[in-house]
Amino acid sequence: MDYTERGAPRNSKTGRGLGISEPSEELHEGGVRSRDSSCACAVRTESCAAACGDMEFCAARRTILQLLGTVVPADRPALLQWMRTTRDFDEFTQDNNDIMLKNIADDLRNCLPLETMLSSEHLALQKIQQQPKPTVHVDAFLYDEDFIDSLCEEGKMSRNYCMVCGSHQTAPLGFISHSFSLMELKFIYHHVLPDLSGKVLVDVGSRLGTVLFGGYLYSSAEQLYGVELNGDFCQLQEMVIKKYQFNDRIKVLHADICTQGSLLQNADVVIMNNVFEYFLNEAEQARAWEYISHNVRKQGSLLLTVPSLEESLSVLQTNIQLSPWVKEVPLNYDECLPEDTDREALEQIHLYEIL
Ligand SMILES: C[S@@+](CC[C@H](N)C(=O)[O-])C[C@H]1O[C@@H](n2cnc3c(N)ncnc32)[C@H](O)[C@@H]1O
Repeated sequence: MDYTERGAPRNSKTGRGLGISEPSEELHEGGVRSRDSSCACAVRTESCAAACGDMEFCAARRTILQLLGTVVPADRPALLQWMRTTRDFDEFTQDNNDIMLKNIADDLRNCLPLETMLSSEHLALQKIQQQPKPTVHVDAFLYDEDFIDSLCEEGKMSRNYCMVCGSHQTAPLGFISHSFSLMELKFIYHHVLPDLSGKVLVDVGSRLGTVLFGGYLYSSAEQLYGVELNGDFCQLQEMVIKKYQFNDRIKVLHADICTQGSLLQNADVVIMNNVFEYFLNEAEQARAWEYISHNVRKQGSLLLTVPSLEESLSVLQTNIQLSPWVKEVPLNYDECLPEDTDREALEQIHLYEIL
């Protein structure tokens, strides 16, 4: 696997935002460049040439460049920066894959309670009550910030709790998500992982299946395996796989990861999003990590974790030595991300190469 190109968006020609570069002095008054008379477009580039059959595209592009030409030069950098990073264009740029993932989230929301926890998850429910500050489960894949805002407006959810009952003294509630959000999935598949053509990815603790569905839509991974301890969540994943016909590349196993040695040994990418902390007691967590460190051994394969291995292991008693096992791969969290990106969440994502 070649890791040198990590960070390049898979679709690097179109990229994120609008991929706009600052107009140079070539921009004539009125914004139209006259260099290439054979093309009706304002600028003849590779992508323009490819799209040139479409006159609407050319005319729209010319109009935008004309508009940019009318902006005073001193204001252009700020305008272009806004165009590169704003979410205001989302409704125009959302591709079909984003829409499909949002439809899947709709389907899953309809099958689950608001807190997205099952009554069978005793330990996780108990652990949340032991948090030092009042904390609620809010699944980041099912409920994005806008959705939470609308639930708060309807009085179905709150971001705050009352510190002195009946008073206006309030403090923010802690939120815990047991899934990656759409934004995190796109960061992982577009910016963190390399091209996955022909590769096998394993999501340890696949829960709602978000990593698998994201991998199906945003990567070329040949096989995506999910291993999930909870049978009810396995059924939900199967429901989505069937409905969206993902079964040619996704397989879900209802199992404890500690029984899946050969799957882990053959994986090219292993994803572990806070798998054990809320679901196993400390002795079980230590045992599960020992199992992972003995079986995720394929040289050059990748292990993506939230939080870092150091953080997960620091509170457990294990014999795991990180330096002979893995090397951390630095990630660029600033890469062309929308301006309202939750950077704190992205900084929890860590990537390691197996030595
Ligand atoms: C935080 S969720 C991860 C969800 C998903 N991977 C994602 O990123 O959106 C962790 C899941 O791991 C499962 N789990 C915990 N211990 C496990 C084990 N030993 N084997 C398989 N699954 C396990 C839990 O049931 C839970 O659904």
